[in-house]
This record gives sequence, structure tokens and C-alpha cells, in this order.
Amino acid sequence: MDLKKVERVYTAYASVYDHTFGKAFKQSRESAVRGLPIKPGFRVLEVGVGTGEALPLYPAHCNVLGIDLSDGMLGHARRRVEQYQLSHVTLQRMDAGNMELADDSFDIVMAAYVVTAVPDYRKVVNEMIRVCKPGGRIVMLNHFSNGNKVIAAVEKLISPLCKHIGFRTDLALNTVLEGTSLLVASKKKVNPLRFWHLVECVNKKNGQEHEMVYANGYASLQA
Ligand SMILES: C[S@@+](CC[C@H](N)C(=O)[O-])C[C@H]1O[C@@H](n2cnc3c(N)ncnc32)[C@H](O)[C@@H]1O
Repeated sequence: MDLKKVERVYTAYASVYDHTFGKAFKQSRESAVRGLPIKPGFRVLEVGVGTGEALPLYPAHCNVLGIDLSDGMLGHARRRVEQYQLSHVTLQRMDAGNMELADDSFDIVMAAYVVTAVPDYRKVVNEMIRVCKPGGRIVMLNHFSNGNKVIAAVEKLISPLCKHIGFRTDLALNTVLEGTSLLVASKKKVNPLRFWHLVECVNKKNGQEHEMVYANGYASLQA
């Protein structure tokens, strides 16, 4: 899907999102945001913020910027910001694959159910790395393709269908991380059906400790 189609699809979903996909994602999203290591004064970027369901969960002691491509989704997020009086939250319409944001400007970059919903995940991940400070955290909550061969075959089969409704199922975490400066600090499954992975990465850019990333993308890390 191209950017225009993604925008159209999500704007069309916007009014029902919270009652459908938004609801299905709720529990995992909550545990992901509540677990973020947010210190006072931190700048947090939420990529693909959608209708802003996570926004009330961020502590008021940080500053949050939420970006999204879809005006329809952002409209709902804006109403939520007003409803909860979230003065520490700002929203901007922006393509996550081409962010109008300075290098090294966020302590934490969060992307919930986004990496598989964007037309070009590589561009988006590279942008997340660019705007995140060296040593900052990049956190992805997503379904990543399963190592199990039977499940992987089913995922591949239904992926073209899922693309029409705005996401793909056949993307593996190793593929996302390949060639990047991201070091996996933790990875866990966060919902009862164990479908969603919560992956916290350290942004080891600018040549720091690249050699610490093992072939499987993991490393034990003393944060
Ligand atoms: C499945 S929704 C997830 C929304 C939200 N993060 C949540 O937890 O419910 C994916 C979101 O990514 C946004 N999106 C897709 N491609 C994008 C892009 N290139 N730039 C910014 N946002 C994008 C969509 O508009 C949509 O709001």
C-alpha cells in the first residue's frame, strides 16, 4: 500500500477504531506504555499514535509528541487530549518515514502496532533511530512473524489479505532489525494469546558497541 492508501484506510477506520482494533490491542498497549522507563523531563515520541488510546497512560512528568499520517485518526487523538487535559502531549500530522524532527531529540520512541502497518518499515525504523538519542530506547509492540513453519506459512498466506486492511503479518523481527544499530534489551509476549511481542531496543548508533549485537539480534544488557 502507498501512503495515500494507508491514510485513506485509517481515516475510514477512525470512527470505529476504538471499538474494534483499538479494543483488541488495549491490554497489550497498556502494559507496554506502563512499562516504559520514563524519567522526569524525558521526551517521548509515539509513532503512529492513531486515536491516541495510549496518551492518557504517559506520566505528566514527560513530554510526548504523537505523530500520525491520518487526519481522521489524529482528530480522535486531539479530542482525547482535550478530554483528559493532557497538556504534556502534542500531536502532529507527519509521515513516520520522513519525520520533520531533529536528530537525537527523543529519549524514548514508541511504536505500537505500527511497524507492520506502514508502507515501508525500513524507512520508518531508520527514522526512529535517527530522531532517538544515542543510548535512547526504541520500543515496538507488534506481531512479528513466528519461527514455527506452519504458522509462518499461514501468516504468509493471509498477509496479502491483511494488507488491504492496513497491516501485514509476515514480517519477522530479525528482518526489521537487520543492519540497524538496535540492540534488543528485552523481548516478551504481552497478551494471553501471546500474539503480540513487546520489544525494547537500545539505540546504539554512532558506532557504539555494534559488535555487541549477536547474530540473532539479542544481547544481555546492563542498562
Ligand atoms: C494499527 S494503527 C495503531 C494505532 C495506535 N498506535 C494504537 O496503539 O492503537 C496504525 C497507525 O499507524 C498510522 N500510520 C501508518 N503509516 C504511517 C506513516 N507512514 N506515518 C505515520 N503514521 C502512519 C496509521 O494512520 C494508524 O493510525
